[in-house]
Amino acid sequence: MDAKKFVDEKVAWIKGKVGEEKAVVATSGGVDSMVTAVLGHRALGERLSVVFLDDGLMRKNEPEQVKKVLAGLGIKLRIYDVKDRFFAALKGKTDPEEKRKAFRETFYSTFADIARETGAKYLLQGTIAADIVETKKGVKTQHNVLEQIGIPVMERYGFIVLEPLKELFKPQVREVAKALGLPQEVVNRRPFPGPGLAIRVIGEVTPDRVAIVREATAVVEEETKDFQCFQAFAVLLSDRATGVTNKGERKYGDIIVVRVVQSEDAMKAQAAELPWKTLQRIEKKIRERVPSVTHVLYDLTGKPPATIEYE
Ligand code: XMP
Repeated sequence: MDAKKFVDEKVAWIKGKVGEEKAVVATSGGVDSMVTAVLGHRALGERLSVVFLDDGLMRKNEPEQVKKVLAGLGIKLRIYDVKDRFFAALKGKTDPEEKRKAFRETFYSTFADIARETGAKYLLQGTIAADIVETKKGVKTQHNVLEQIGIPVMERYGFIVLEPLKELFKPQVREVAKALGLPQEVVNRRPFPGPGLAIRVIGEVTPDRVAIVREATAVVEEETKDFQCFQAFAVLLSDRATGVTNKGERKYGDIIVVRVVQSEDAMKAQAAELPWKTLQRIEKKIRERVPSVTHVLYDLTGKPPATIEYE
């Protein structure tokens, strides 16, 4: 693809659509939403508000890192603390699709409020082709696919969604990111799903359970930072398993799954062949940093039959 031409075309397309109105874009720091924010900023300048929803489901230090990268690109980020709103919406929910739908509803109703506050008529969003294909097939409800499955966005939320990347798959998005001059860390960033750690906590999503998976994820990321892979993360299961303390007492503890996959575009994936020594370090560090954990497992399954995320 001609990434430079794509950039010119999409900047003109956004300008044409938004006209003299205002727009808002949410960025999570991932390559899709960063590319969308930069295209939007080029097209609209100060008429675009770039926001980060601190929903309590992000990884360690994520809001600060996103702020830093955007500041380096001359883009101001507004951070909204909406943790209580998201945890309230997810409270008591254990079914994966119910959780995804509760996340999506909270995400867009939060945006409806932000759009009202900022006077924005448009929401720019970094939906890519794989998100649409998977949601339409009914594999899972991706948080950012609405109109394609018949949700009347304007009627329900009061804004118009623009998706400049919806024909691209991940490798092409990375080419566009490069053409835009985004830093390497963004261009090559591993994908992180919109619903964040909520879909890596099996069962009910509570601040305490998210904190467990957040710390375990930080360990997996630290230990795989130089390992070439598509995604590397931790999942907290809802079961508990018997362990034994140093004093020889029985202890029911949490079970963490470590998942590291290779993939081109997320449509198919293989479990990565992580060196045994790395796996051992991950296991030890997770147990040390998350004392409630008694078992650490490594997932060997590819996609299909598994999906990359657990929910
Ligand atoms: P699955 O689990 O379906 O994931 O194999 C495929 C890719 O999509 C990411 N993913 C999401 N990304 N919103 C997103 O922005 C979502 O709701 C969502 N669900 C999954 C996942 O991390 C993987 O890269």
